[in-house]
Amino acid sequence: MIVMSDKRRILVTSALPYANGSIHLGHLVEYIQTDVWARFQKMRGHECVYICADDTHGTPIMLSAQKQGITPEELIEKVHVEHQADFAAFHVEFDTYHTTHCDENKELSELIYNRAKAAGAICEKDIEQLYDEEAGMFLPDRFVKGECPKCEAKEQYGDSCEVCSATYSPKDLVEPVSVVSGQKPVLRHSNHIFFKLSDYEGFLQEWFKQDPVHEGLKKKLNEWFESGLKDWDISRDAPYFGFKIPGTDDKYFYVWVDAPVGYMASTKKWCETNGGDFDSIWVNGDYEIHHFIGKDILYFHTLFWPVMLHVAEFQTPHHVHVHGFLTVNGEKMSKSRGTFILASSYLEQGLNPEYLRYYYASKLSASVEDIDLNFDDFIQRVNSDVVNKFVNIGSRLGAIVRKKLDLKLSTPDAEGETLLAEMRQSIPVVADLYDARETNKAMREIMRLADLANQYIDQKAPWTVVKTDEEHARAICTSGLNALAILSGLLSPVMPVLSSKVASFLGITDTIWDAIGTLISDREIAPFERMADRVDADQVASLTCTPKTA
Ligand code: 2FM
Ligand code: ZN
Repeated sequence: MIVMSDKRRILVTSALPYANGSIHLGHLVEYIQTDVWARFQKMRGHECVYICADDTHGTPIMLSAQKQGITPEELIEKVHVEHQADFAAFHVEFDTYHTTHCDENKELSELIYNRAKAAGAICEKDIEQLYDEEAGMFLPDRFVKGECPKCEAKEQYGDSCEVCSATYSPKDLVEPVSVVSGQKPVLRHSNHIFFKLSDYEGFLQEWFKQDPVHEGLKKKLNEWFESGLKDWDISRDAPYFGFKIPGTDDKYFYVWVDAPVGYMASTKKWCETNGGDFDSIWVNGDYEIHHFIGKDILYFHTLFWPVMLHVAEFQTPHHVHVHGFLTVNGEKMSKSRGTFILASSYLEQGLNPEYLRYYYASKLSASVEDIDLNFDDFIQRVNSDVVNKFVNIGSRLGAIVRKKLDLKLSTPDAEGETLLAEMRQSIPVVADLYDARETNKAMREIMRLADLANQYIDQKAPWTVVKTDEEHARAICTSGLNALAILSGLLSPVMPVLSSKVASFLGITDTIWDAIGTLISDREIAPFERMADRVDADQVASLTCTPKTA
């Protein structure tokens, strides 16, 4: 039993997806990783709140709505529904899925800004930027294209060159062209509002001493310190879809200001609907705050965000868990190769969402390394591990118990007891691996246990024994099905639906972590019903043949 003093209070977030694109298999790495971790913490009996929201502001969303002939509000509403359906289909279970375009977020963003201003963390500077006279707007880096100033490659974005990896300012592009109007932009001055990040290096150094990120990232963070922290431009000129900055007529918060504040806004929403206390989470430090993000947004989460929180006297994150990118068949996801696969395309092929969850779990670790979705490996691993090693225990033994043993279990035989004792010993090992986000190792350990269970069943051959000694066969089946129950409990954070089918089959009602390994004996079980099908290579092949755009 979990005793109250061990009970943790945890707020968990995944990065907020932009509201102008569909969820794809790359996104799902993070949501599945976070969901597995949150489900595990809940199973352990901890209070764990998993929140997320759509990231709705910024120029790309404004322009995308324009292109579709709808308002940004209509666009973000439509995408909100679509995103939630995709997440639900992959069993990503948020406690709240909100939006950054909400009153809570506006109030909190203004509050943080006003506090930062009062603390002297805000200044103004005149800057020069590319302006599209035809579209009547300043151009973000990615909305200008031109020739790379270093290697002369054509058609490069305004921030970096995809050919020689040089980074530069859009003003340095040769022959710049606006992506919005196709016209040549001009240089124009504007007064911008900056956050004086450079004043907070000391605070950040102290924060890093609490180990909020994985060891492997420290080098990167030190590089940033060594090259000196730069003040951060937090304003954007109209037209812009976002929140107006208090005290200005035509300046808006840059989307990266109110996006992380969206974590707090979503918490507020959760508190309103669930009777939670916002201050105990974001002010008093009664909760651990864990952000799960991809490595591309590390800078925002480990420099800007903790400083914003610190300056505004809010709780800083306890941990920022960073994962790598997804490659498909060893390469960057690509629309032309058909490997830019949407969550909805995966579902349309009739592929089981839990198989992707298992595959990602078997690859993910606490490190920031990229993970590869290799389709041959996916088919092989799912069929071998989930179907052959796990589900087959149920189908093989379930058939004997139904056909020959009146659905009745007895107690395990002596070798079965030995098997179950060994499996029970691994339960805390697997728990530690989940907690440390070493899910690949956790899956390996669970499959080692599945191998032991299958060896036991093969050696005992209950299908032969039942012909001569029903009670002995019943004891063997009881042992094997107890092994299945343990495997199912251990896999539950990853494959909750499959686990609940096993629970119904065996009559397991207590699904908390500490109940894993409880003996199931002397009872009648339900008839086994088909739980999972093998992955079909054709389904997977069609997946890469039907590219859809995001
Ligand atoms: O990179 C992205 O997809 C952003 N929309 C993530 C925002 S995370 C948070 F800070 F809101
Ligand atoms: Zn270049």
